[in-house]
Amino acid sequence: MSLGKHIVLSTGAKLPQIGLGTWLSKPKEVEHAVEYAVRSGYRHLDLARIYQNQDEVGAALKKVIPSVVTREDLFITSKLWNSAHQAAYAEKELDETLAQIGTDYLDLYLIHWPIAFPPGNGLNPPHATKEGEVAIDTETSLVDTWKALIALPKSKVRAIGVSNFTVAQLKGIIAATGVVPAVNQIEAHPLLPQDELVAYCKSQNIHITAYSPLGNNLIGKPKLTENAVVEEVAQRLGATTAQVLVAWGAHRGYSVIPKSVQEERIVSNFKQVELSEEDYQKISAIGHDNYTRFNIPFTYKPKWDVNIFDEPIEKQAAFSAKIQ
Ligand SMILES: NC(=O)c1ccc[n+]([C@@H]2O[C@H](COP(=O)([O-])OP(=O)(O)OC[C@H]3O[C@@H](n4cnc5c(N)ncnc54)[C@H](OP(=O)(O)O)[C@@H]3O)[C@@H](O)[C@H]2O)c1
Repeated sequence: MSLGKHIVLSTGAKLPQIGLGTWLSKPKEVEHAVEYAVRSGYRHLDLARIYQNQDEVGAALKKVIPSVVTREDLFITSKLWNSAHQAAYAEKELDETLAQIGTDYLDLYLIHWPIAFPPGNGLNPPHATKEGEVAIDTETSLVDTWKALIALPKSKVRAIGVSNFTVAQLKGIIAATGVVPAVNQIEAHPLLPQDELVAYCKSQNIHITAYSPLGNNLIGKPKLTENAVVEEVAQRLGATTAQVLVAWGAHRGYSVIPKSVQEERIVSNFKQVELSEEDYQKISAIGHDNYTRFNIPFTYKPKWDVNIFDEPIEKQAAFSAKIQ
């Protein structure tokens, strides 16, 4: 069984290039998906506290460790949620995550979003007066939270990084601490190339993990997996459109974490195909007049009244991420 290619992080750790995403996997689905994925060769799992299914992942891991793999064979990423950004809460939430997964360490722990919520009132604390909005903690900065991650015991967290961070946010936490995140996990697919962010990360040796690589489409646009250009390339290569989209991310040096709970897709998404430079350019061209970011928390329900990426729709937000 091929275990696929891997990336070497700035820490020296080996990160398998294709991992399994677990967001929006329904209850009872993710346990089977994770077990099936590990049996099929996946060694990289992308989890988060907010997905509220880490206990199911833990149940799956009990079925495959040690009979199929050892814990050391796996690369497990999880993410600190916004309501535990405060120094007094970060390690407590990490401990909860470790208990849910049933492991004593993570390979990588990320700050999930560059925005803090007040602690102690659930994962999406309601705003005191504005119905349909989450409460925002305007005091805790990204530097505070990055320092909290840096302070976590190395025995529990082998590498630390961030997710959804912009160049300015990355520069801010690096300047304040001198500690460079190992990874920035960002939305990345042909409609969202983010060349400036990618170039900055490369210059700092920050590895990029591509989330929503298939363009997980929560806003009703045509699916990237059904795009005519992607279909043409896939047909010619004898590949699926999802494999072509994963290959587009791999061509850019990303690790890529497609989510599926369907056995056939779990297997096929993991099978790596290579894109020629010409096909890579062809797929990249889809995004030239069709820039799309699918995941914008300002549009969530409940809404986060925050400008994170400076997208046009976010400019009306009351808050922006507090860096320092
Ligand atoms: N850091 C962050 O803020 C953040 C945000 C979003 C996502 N993520 C991570 O990234 C992972 C992947 O992103 P995502 O879940 O948003 O989207 P995605 O992987 O781009 O797309 C997932 C969707 O595509 C479908 N799909 C999977 N394989 C397919 C195939 N071969 N052909 C056609 N459709 C296919 C899945 O349905 P089925 O399950 O039915 O196959 C699901 O509806 C997440 O699960 C999560 O772990 C992180």
